Amino acid sequence: MEKSVKLTYKNETFEFPLVGGTEDELGIDIKKLRALTGLVTLDPGFKNSGSCQSGVTFLDGEKGVLKYRGYAIEDLANGADFLEVAYLLIFGELPTSAQLDKFQSDINEESIVDEDLKVILKSFPKTAHPMGILASLTSALTAFNPSSVDVDSEEDMYKAIVTIMAKFPVIVAWTQRKVKGLPLNYSDSKLSYVDNVAKMMFKKPNSDYDLNPTITAALNKLLILHADHEQNCSTSTVRIVGSSHAGLFASISAGISALWGPLHGGANQAVIEMLEAIKADGGDTKKFMAKAKDKNDSFRLMGFGHRVYKNFDPRAKIIKVTADEVLNELGIVDPILDIAKGLEQEALSDTYFVDRKLYPNVDFYSGIIYRALGIPTEMFTVMFALGRLPGWIAQWREMRMNNEPIGRPRQIYTGATEKVFKTLKKR
Ligand code: SDX
Repeated sequence: MEKSVKLTYKNETFEFPLVGGTEDELGIDIKKLRALTGLVTLDPGFKNSGSCQSGVTFLDGEKGVLKYRGYAIEDLANGADFLEVAYLLIFGELPTSAQLDKFQSDINEESIVDEDLKVILKSFPKTAHPMGILASLTSALTAFNPSSVDVDSEEDMYKAIVTIMAKFPVIVAWTQRKVKGLPLNYSDSKLSYVDNVAKMMFKKPNSDYDLNPTITAALNKLLILHADHEQNCSTSTVRIVGSSHAGLFASISAGISALWGPLHGGANQAVIEMLEAIKADGGDTKKFMAKAKDKNDSFRLMGFGHRVYKNFDPRAKIIKVTADEVLNELGIVDPILDIAKGLEQEALSDTYFVDRKLYPNVDFYSGIIYRALGIPTEMFTVMFALGRLPGWIAQWREMRMNNEPIGRPRQIYTGATEKVFKTLKKR
């Protein structure tokens, strides 16, 4: 394997070491580039730039491979419990029963959310987007848990981690119940993590809540599939905010805001809105395919394409199968599932999409399952955030444990150079 690369500039040759990973990825270590050459790199959207070395998640975009700490996503999605996967991502190994029981018990200890957080929730208009509510309440958690801010010891980090693992599902449920006009409820420590999420989100105040295994199994799988995805937009946001030693809750709140965008996690809501629009328009998928290919039309086929996957997103494959299973088990016929499948078939045989290697991503089918579970469309990205929480935590913890420097990219300045100041009277 090559150990370095050479750069020739102004008749001088500079050598930069190559950094290799455990999956044979190679990167040029340019830590000394500016000191040696005066040059910086320019890479809008960081399409070619690695921000860190990480052992949390690996994905191979060409092969459509996704692994959490070395475990294939297919094995975890079909065989693990979400809290196990959260523990794996955050601490690096699958837990023993004793470790999992302690993690669950420590989370239960922290699952009461300060009643005054309801005052903040109630101050939002009913029309507020749930992602804005979630980002605000997550940041507000800092005010009610001040010890979580300046965490340097592993012990303090663990306390902050179990605190947000415990309180986040409660504020997710409260956000949904606010949207639906339902009274706010509390965590039930007798239940597993995912069963507790289902009960908090779906229990009606006028009846008992019987856990539905189809619903909890679907939730468990969706949360696992969304749990981490290496250095995506929102995770990179969590890392860079955390690199200033802002607390965990503030870093997660920033990640929620980044995830909100329709080009990122907000796509799962945009997909359903797109499919609904196609249905309302008579189901003419060809018309919308033409719009997606028209450079003069801002319309994009939401749920398609990916910065890294140039093959099928392995999560989309699993979710597509699960969508059929869940709808059949719940006895639901949803015409937009057929529209989605029709779009996928057309896109996979259309040169525009084939040439650009645009395949369905994690967001293309997930909304169909959330809808079948009775989750409002505007809550879909909140569900993405609930799944991604352990990944954000794992990446934040790795960045802090590695004592990584504060993130501060350079630029190429293109603005005015010499301007002579004139006071207001003279302008
Ligand atoms: C997530 O990064 C992650 O890991 C994210 C995520 C995670 O788990 O964290 O996987 C979750 O965010 C999934 C992506 C959800 N977003 C969408 O579904 C929105 C629709 N997709 C696109 O906007 C787009 O594909 C992106 C944003 C996902 C990726 O954009 P890139 O990598 O910057 O690619 P690009 O915009 O430069 O597109 C390359 C070409 C362009 O055409 P040309 O200029 O080459 O002619 O493909 C075209 C684009 O116009 N294109 C699309 C398209 N996506 C890309 N054309 C029509 N419809 C689309 N969806």
